[in-house]
Amino acid sequence: MDSREIRQRFLAFFEKRGHAVIPSSSLVPENDPSVLFNTAGMQPLVPYLMGTPHPSGKRLANSQKCVRTQDIEEVGDKTHDTFFEMLGNWSLGDYFKEDAIKWSFEFLTSKEEGLGLDPARLYVTVFEGNDDAPRDEEAFAIWKKYMPENRIYFMSAKSNWWSPGDNGPCGPDTEMFYDVTERGLGDMTKDEYMTADNRQDIVEIWNDVFMEYEKKSGRVSGRLAMKNVDTGSGLERVVMATQGKDNVFYTDLFLPIMQKIGDLAAGGQPTDAKNIRAARIVADHVRTGVMMIADGVRPSNTDQGYILRRLLRRAVRYADMLGVGKGMLSELVPIIAEKYKGIYDNVSAMEGAIVKEIWEEEDKFRKTLERGTKELTRLFEEKIISGEDAFRLFSTYGFPIEMTEELAAEQGVSVDRAQFDIEFKKHQALSREGSGQKFKGGLADASEKTTKLHTATHLMLAGLRKYLGEGVHQAGSNITEERLRFDFTYPEKVPREILDKVEAYVNEAISKGCMVLIEQMKKEEAKAKGVEGSFWEKYPDVVNVYSVVAPDGTAYSAELCGGPHVEQTKNMGHFKIIKEEASSSGVRRIKAVLA
Ligand code: ALA
Repeated sequence: MDSREIRQRFLAFFEKRGHAVIPSSSLVPENDPSVLFNTAGMQPLVPYLMGTPHPSGKRLANSQKCVRTQDIEEVGDKTHDTFFEMLGNWSLGDYFKEDAIKWSFEFLTSKEEGLGLDPARLYVTVFEGNDDAPRDEEAFAIWKKYMPENRIYFMSAKSNWWSPGDNGPCGPDTEMFYDVTERGLGDMTKDEYMTADNRQDIVEIWNDVFMEYEKKSGRVSGRLAMKNVDTGSGLERVVMATQGKDNVFYTDLFLPIMQKIGDLAAGGQPTDAKNIRAARIVADHVRTGVMMIADGVRPSNTDQGYILRRLLRRAVRYADMLGVGKGMLSELVPIIAEKYKGIYDNVSAMEGAIVKEIWEEEDKFRKTLERGTKELTRLFEEKIISGEDAFRLFSTYGFPIEMTEELAAEQGVSVDRAQFDIEFKKHQALSREGSGQKFKGGLADASEKTTKLHTATHLMLAGLRKYLGEGVHQAGSNITEERLRFDFTYPEKVPREILDKVEAYVNEAISKGCMVLIEQMKKEEAKAKGVEGSFWEKYPDVVNVYSVVAPDGTAYSAELCGGPHVEQTKNMGHFKIIKEEASSSGVRRIKAVLA
């Protein structure tokens, strides 16, 4: 059974049991500044777990894209990866422990509807109790219907209490582990179970959280208005268990990427432990990079962009170790995009732009590496690299601090991390002041001229789609007071006659004095109505649709957006496309003005 079928089976299983299947949200949280990336399926659903009614009902299921980088050093072992999909089913004040446990067990073990895993290889943990909540006798009693008692272990809050951070919904959980050894481990004492876990002989494949408490400032502060279930099953890991592997890199999610890395590496498929680890790091980091870029992240020195930069640059270093030729990392992109066709279509739609970003970031890094290496060699003469020097390497040469630390450690040199962190905070404070001027959606500002060009961009995209077909979508946009710059998916040069038609389309809408209407609707409804949008997953369930409609009723454009737009098109000026050129493979770029 391949990963595609496993994901599909999970969703179908829960749909049959009354769950609405909802799409994955973007990797970048929409309304939660406390985390850079969604790290669990429940994160985009926090408001609903706290009591807001969800438009799709009380039972939900999906596969949510997640990024966790806190275990980045572990990547290269059997089970850690920085990007993963979390299969999840939720009860928002509806069913509780009985059904949640029953369905987890059924899905894992049923041959007809689920994964057909061997129940004799399953182990389960439940919460042993503390001052916040009692020992979970209820979960224990339910599990005993499905599992022998001696393979159910009571564990402390350290492993069996789940919350997304210091604030928010939380509760005790029950976790399921699968034996991935060849011989099979059979019955184990609690100590043996813990050793097997450390050795990655058993792997956690599912977690059911019984969310009925709330945490404030790190302490459980009380009960929620309703009892929820939040479950999470890491797709990569269940695929591994189902495919009878003991390693995520041997599953169909990673194998083609690993194969390609072997093809690109000077020495072919790596065979020694060090190079195998390097290849896995490259596969993992590039895959995560691809998913981040598809969700709109670009390499930079702050926030999400910094994590992306760090991953890509780390991948370059490990690729070099394998003798992968310069500039070749981006060759992994089509293989990764192929895996997510029909699931996260923004990846293949953005393929050209992703290739370009990865290629450019590698190139930039190599240039700074050349310049920075001289500086580093000088610094390696000291026993310790000062925080100021480490920060200079970061800000001038683009060396992520973790990489400086890694390179330094290879030379037996340490880095004053505490001082670096102080320097970094100062820098962050400065860039936050600057970012006050940044607007969403690639607008340099919200001035009148920029706003007019933004409305013109919508009209132009509608025109491009009218004359070039529905395959045209936005791949990037950048608007200043002087011009709009717009990237869109299209495989070849757009003839001037078509550009003239698009210009005429925009100018017709302008001259008619169209109104720009903002309407709120459910995302699914907007999709069904043919509203244009390229990053659907990035938007919440209820979206703002901006339409440009003439007094005679002609609709010139309908697109998902966050504004700002003109109220009325009459005084926008004359629209002119001044340039059309290639941006990257499969992506064209237009520059246009309002004269
Ligand atoms: N929120 C739970 C987890 O991430 C299911 O493990």
